[in-house]
Amino acid sequence: MRLLEVVLAAASLASAAVTPSPDEQVVYDGFKVVRVNVTDGLPSLKSKIASLAQTLELHSYADHMDVALAPSDVAAFEALNLPSDILDEDLGASIAAEGPLVSFNSIAEVGANALPSDSWFNNYHPYSDHLQFLKDLQSALPQNSEILEIGASYEGRQITGLHLWGSGGSGSKPAIYIHGTVHAREWIATMVVEYFAYQLVSGYGNNATIKGFLDSYDFYFFPVVNPDGFSYTQSNDRLWRKNRMPRSSTSAKGTDINRNWPYKWEVSGGASTNPSDEDYRGQAAGDTPEVKVLKAFTDKLAAGKGIRLYIDFHSYGQYILLPYGYTCSKRSSNDAKQESLAGTLQAAIAKPYGKRFTYGPICSTLYAATGGSTDVSDIASFPVCTLIGKRKEPLTRLLQYMTDVAGTTYAWAVELRGGGSGSSGFVLPPSQIRPSSIEIWQGMQALIPSL
Ligand SMILES: *[C@@H]1O[C@H](CO)[C@@H](O)[C@H](O)[C@H]1NC(C)=O
Ligand SMILES: *[C@@H]1O[C@H](CO)[C@@H](O)[C@H](O)[C@H]1NC(C)=O
Ligand SMILES: [Zn+2]
Repeated sequence: MRLLEVVLAAASLASAAVTPSPDEQVVYDGFKVVRVNVTDGLPSLKSKIASLAQTLELHSYADHMDVALAPSDVAAFEALNLPSDILDEDLGASIAAEGPLVSFNSIAEVGANALPSDSWFNNYHPYSDHLQFLKDLQSALPQNSEILEIGASYEGRQITGLHLWGSGGSGSKPAIYIHGTVHAREWIATMVVEYFAYQLVSGYGNNATIKGFLDSYDFYFFPVVNPDGFSYTQSNDRLWRKNRMPRSSTSAKGTDINRNWPYKWEVSGGASTNPSDEDYRGQAAGDTPEVKVLKAFTDKLAAGKGIRLYIDFHSYGQYILLPYGYTCSKRSSNDAKQESLAGTLQAAIAKPYGKRFTYGPICSTLYAATGGSTDVSDIASFPVCTLIGKRKEPLTRLLQYMTDVAGTTYAWAVELRGGGSGSSGFVLPPSQIRPSSIEIWQGMQALIPSL
């Protein structure tokens, strides 16, 4: 079930090696993406799925769980006799259909010091080209922007962002602060964040509405806050999630950066203490290089003009997630406004393609609304708010940090497209990049004037 086991299994199939070499490739050919309905409680289902040696859990919900079912586990899975539906017949084929990573050199630029071509949004690209893309955006609006290299990841990559501002000058307005791809495999998030930045850069000189956005806020875009993990998804394992930091006394690599923020870190539930798990929280609060860097930068923004809006873009499932997260008995002081803004965002996202993003209701509402004894016992054993639109997903320490410590007015996570029949979830064909980006840009244009 755990990724390390997939890696080990792949290694032992290939070479009978006990420890995977750093160059180990993980192949998902013949894996099926299967949605399993919860009938007997999620913990019971999780332990059954965990008995399948090479099968990988993708997302868990209160009422169902998506898994990547390995070919070698099919017989054992069928013997479990679980109610399930196949979402994707061949995950390997879907990964292949994402296409080769298209190098930046083949993307035409409109002219010297001009915008890169928007054909950038037709394909996925290597990590190094994302850095170049940000630099090219910066040079297309040189008086109103800067590249930010805020500090190094575990493997030494600079966490890189683009800062845009308007007529008031750099740092003169409250921040709209955007993160993407903290979970390395959520590739669509990188492209959606870049599209948002691209629209602001391209519109500033010729569109009064967009100029108004930049004149009202300083924007900070970090399309890839987990560069080591993201690079690893491109070189070795498409479904890697965490960072790539080793720990003493275990061969398992990686900490979930989203579970490592130094706020309510010690609260049990919503994160794992097992280094092999996908949501491993680390050995101590904020002990990953990435969180140290991101926290320091966040604190700087908070100490400046403050953070009006923070969004952490993830995939998948189409959700707008609001605080509170670490407890079910507390709500944000501006909860009513948050829900109303989330409704505005939801309606605007749905306009171009009819995609419905679910927002709230937050924990206590759901606690009352979902009823069933299974759900209630799940929540009780899982003190981090678990159910958003029936989804068993803790709101992370990060949103709480942003809200309670950094004083962010609205700190949200948005889960983008993916999941559902015919979809592998994290793996979306390139034809989904543009519509995913357009609907979020539509949403942002409705949200920003309402903040
Ligand atoms: C799983 O649950 C969904 C939603 O209730 C339902 O539509 C689907 O038919 C169920 N699948 C199976 C195999 O029971
Ligand atoms: C400004 O850009 C927005 C978003 O692309 C668009 O809807 C609007 O029509 C543009 N306004 C003008 C005057 O071009
Ligand atoms: Zn995520």
